[in-house]
Amino acid sequence: MLTSAGVFDIFPRLVCAGIGCIYGCSTGRLRRLSHNDIGITKGGKTRFIGVGTMLIDILTIFPKMFEDVLNTSILKIALQKGVVRIGLHNIRDYSTDKHRKTDDAPYGGGPGMIMTCDPVFRAVEAVRTAERKDSHLVLLTPQGRTFTQKVARELSQKSGLMLLCGRYEGFDERIRTGLKPDEISVGDYVLSGGEIAAMIVVDAVVRLLPGALGCGASTADESFENGGLDYPHYTSPTEYRGMKVPEVLLSGHHAEIEKWRREQARKRTRKRRPDLSDEQADDSDTQNGEERRD
Ligand SMILES: C[S@@+](CC[C@H](N)C(=O)[O-])C[C@H]1O[C@@H](n2cnc3c(N)ncnc32)[C@H](O)[C@@H]1O
Repeated sequence: MLTSAGVFDIFPRLVCAGIGCIYGCSTGRLRRLSHNDIGITKGGKTRFIGVGTMLIDILTIFPKMFEDVLNTSILKIALQKGVVRIGLHNIRDYSTDKHRKTDDAPYGGGPGMIMTCDPVFRAVEAVRTAERKDSHLVLLTPQGRTFTQKVARELSQKSGLMLLCGRYEGFDERIRTGLKPDEISVGDYVLSGGEIAAMIVVDAVVRLLPGALGCGASTADESFENGGLDYPHYTSPTEYRGMKVPEVLLSGHHAEIEKWRREQARKRTRKRRPDLSDEQADDSDTQNGEERRD
């Protein structure tokens, strides 16, 4: 939904994919967009949000699903800071069907509809301009390799991503064999479409980009970054309903705090996710009463 202020009017520049024309920057004024304008390809032009070095293109039949997600919190700030540019492309714009159809019934019968080849091939080819010649094509599918923090980091090293979102019963198989995308699944469950999966990928990747997180924030200690889980966090008050903040965190002794956190992270990993890291899970777990009560 568009907010009364206009979803993307906070962004400093809007780049039109057509490809490379820039809205708003020549005058330096922010440009208020109409509802129809927002990040959606129209007549071959796609508006981009942000001016960052990484370029993420999302190909979907429901681009509006991304509006609030891109206009919230870290993604919004990353776009404002120019850490990333994101383009939303409506696959329907590449359908030659007069009703902008992008699906058809499966050969051989069976339930549901299948996304047809032509609009998807045409969309991918149109979006893959010179600037995106090295963009990494990702097809969201429950049958792909599992998306993990490691994969997020791998994708964050790419110059660009093109995320292809499916709907219905999924894609015609020739989209997979013809375009040879990197097939990625966000988990062993089936979503109604690839949009939420794409949002997961965008969120996890963008927060890894240099400058995406706020001042002093870091992904270094976060879960999965060092093979294990993050340590427990506490904030004010020092006591809540009888539950106290561990003394060490109030001690001001940085070396002790660091040691405690490392131990807690190891113990937590060993207890909750022993599959993650054998090296993290040491024998000290058995000596800690607090973690055993979890
Ligand atoms: C209903 S699903 C199709 C599922 C497909 N018939 C199957 O069983 O493998 C429709 C679309 O949602 C997306 N999707 C669903 N689950 C997903 C997951 N776990 N990871 C990534 N994308 C997913 C894909 O883009 C998929 O084409």
